[in-house]
Amino acid sequence: MIIANWKMNGSKKLVKDWIDSITKDIEINPGKDCIFCPPICYIDYSRRIINEHDNNLKLGSQKIDTLIHAPFTGGLSAEMLVDLGCQYVIIGHSEQRMNLHETNLDLSSKLKNTKEMDLKPIFCIGESLEQKNSNITKEVLNEQLEVIEREYIQEVIIAYEPVWAIGTGQNAEISYINEIHAFIKQTLQNKIKSSIQISVVYGGSVNLDNCKEIYCSDQVDGLLIGGASLNSETFTKIYNML
Ligand code: PGA
Repeated sequence: MIIANWKMNGSKKLVKDWIDSITKDIEINPGKDCIFCPPICYIDYSRRIINEHDNNLKLGSQKIDTLIHAPFTGGLSAEMLVDLGCQYVIIGHSEQRMNLHETNLDLSSKLKNTKEMDLKPIFCIGESLEQKNSNITKEVLNEQLEVIEREYIQEVIIAYEPVWAIGTGQNAEISYINEIHAFIKQTLQNKIKSSIQISVVYGGSVNLDNCKEIYCSDQVDGLLIGGASLNSETFTKIYNML
């Protein structure tokens, strides 16, 4: 699966041009899902354009709130996202963990809300540079993974995004990605005492030059792409190359 995370970028015109261009240049393969995560204010507009094109592009939200059926000004529920035609939602991105001070309890509520509405969570985890340099990456990831309750493990897509690789142009080396993805899969399999398949996608400075090597690894089940997904030509080349 290839996920385009637009973060806080775009406009109605850019969204339309991007979807038009993807429809023209990408034959979306059911074995390689293509998931578009625009800013939440463009979700409904994106859904309308996708429906006009009937192109198999899936839609994901960058946001969901912890509460359901509560008086919460500005809140966004799983039910609303499904109503808008979202199939996926990004949860626990490091930019939100940091800027919104999200706790494990918040993330756990968000995961629970998705489960109740049949939305697929893309759950982001990753260590900071300081944590990597202190050799505590696996402890950090282990703690982040603890939020996922046993009964949700099969539903969740994990996005391993080392914080030091996001938006820096410095992707993790393939040997490091392989080691960490294997660790994540093993940790979750141990938790449910089963060898079921766990999907782990990689994110962090994926671009045209490094996408193939990362995607081709047996340990990598997809890519979460920020900056390089904004330009439809670049994104098309990445999707078509894999
Ligand atoms: P990047 O962002 O590809 O620009 O590093 C990835 C992400 O934050 O999801």
